[in-house]
Amino acid sequence: MPTKPSPPALADLDLHPGQSLALLQELHILTREGRINQDSRRKLKQVKHLLQFIEPLLQQALQQRGDVTLVDHGAGKSYLGFMLYDRFLQGRSAGRVIGIEARAELVQRAQALAQRLGFARMEFVAATVQQALDHPALALRPDLVTALHACDTATDDAIAFALARQAQHVLLVPCCQAEVAAALRRHKSLQGAQPSGAPAHETAHETADEPAPEPAGGRPAPAPLSALWQRPLHTREFGSHITNVLRCLQLEAHGYAVTVTELVGWEHSMKNELIVARKVGAPQPRARQRLLELLHTLGLPELQQRFAPPPDAT
Ligand SMILES: C[S@@+](CC[C@H](N)C(=O)[O-])C[C@H]1O[C@@H](n2cnc3c(N)ncnc32)[C@H](O)[C@@H]1O
Repeated sequence: MPTKPSPPALADLDLHPGQSLALLQELHILTREGRINQDSRRKLKQVKHLLQFIEPLLQQALQQRGDVTLVDHGAGKSYLGFMLYDRFLQGRSAGRVIGIEARAELVQRAQALAQRLGFARMEFVAATVQQALDHPALALRPDLVTALHACDTATDDAIAFALARQAQHVLLVPCCQAEVAAALRRHKSLQGAQPSGAPAHETAHETADEPAPEPAGGRPAPAPLSALWQRPLHTREFGSHITNVLRCLQLEAHGYAVTVTELVGWEHSMKNELIVARKVGAPQPRARQRLLELLHTLGLPELQQRFAPPPDAT
């Protein structure tokens, strides 16, 4: 059984009035003695910050239609879902949180905890984000879709889910994404920026901090833009940056207004971008056109299926 932490240990946590300390102990954010380590402090701060965005959206849905559904992709231990339920849903008779997580053991643990706490309107589905679209338990229209630090392309699959289900709101904290960087590397080698015969990711000039050698005679010169992702670190970071730009355009193309901010100060996490999207109208052909032009300019048409599939394919 969780024990009651001493008040001095909690003084600097800025907890919400009525926030359950027992829950924080169950989630191992607080120790039994009420202490908190740096990682947990960071997690708590992130979740609290996100709840400030999420709760007004849920409140709005509850007022408008008397119910609200949040689907959290790549939920992990469901810190967000549990704290949201504790703070916002527990005292109400409507509203539910559904956590989707690929690791079955995390789902089982979360289910057991929700049952122990009596959080009856928390549900968990053991599935990948990709599988979620075809899952019978998820044939619903969520008000809000979240994906926080969902690995690699799981964020993109969460966007696809939100678009297919016409979610009113989407809230994303992307994790690293390798797909665009890999396509940039392939594009670079196709353009002749690599010495012939060397794999794109292993060439000497990529690891040395020097300009790439001139392409051998007869091969096309690399496009000037490719200097932006000439070196491995730049390719990764540029790929990550472009990925989020493409995600925003994709959401805009589907009629969402998109805001991008920092989640918390940089000292708390390197992956710190928060994308908040709200459905405001019909699909925007202009945004889709910009997305396609960007893919073309960067030599990434192979990613059209990911970010701008033909309208009838979404
Ligand atoms: C870094 S953790 C983040 C967990 C939680 N969202 C949070 O912010 O605390 C990423 C989680 O996403 C899950 N995950 C990764 N890829 C997934 C996918 N394709 N479908 C569902 N879950 C996935 C992992 O198993 C892991 O639990």
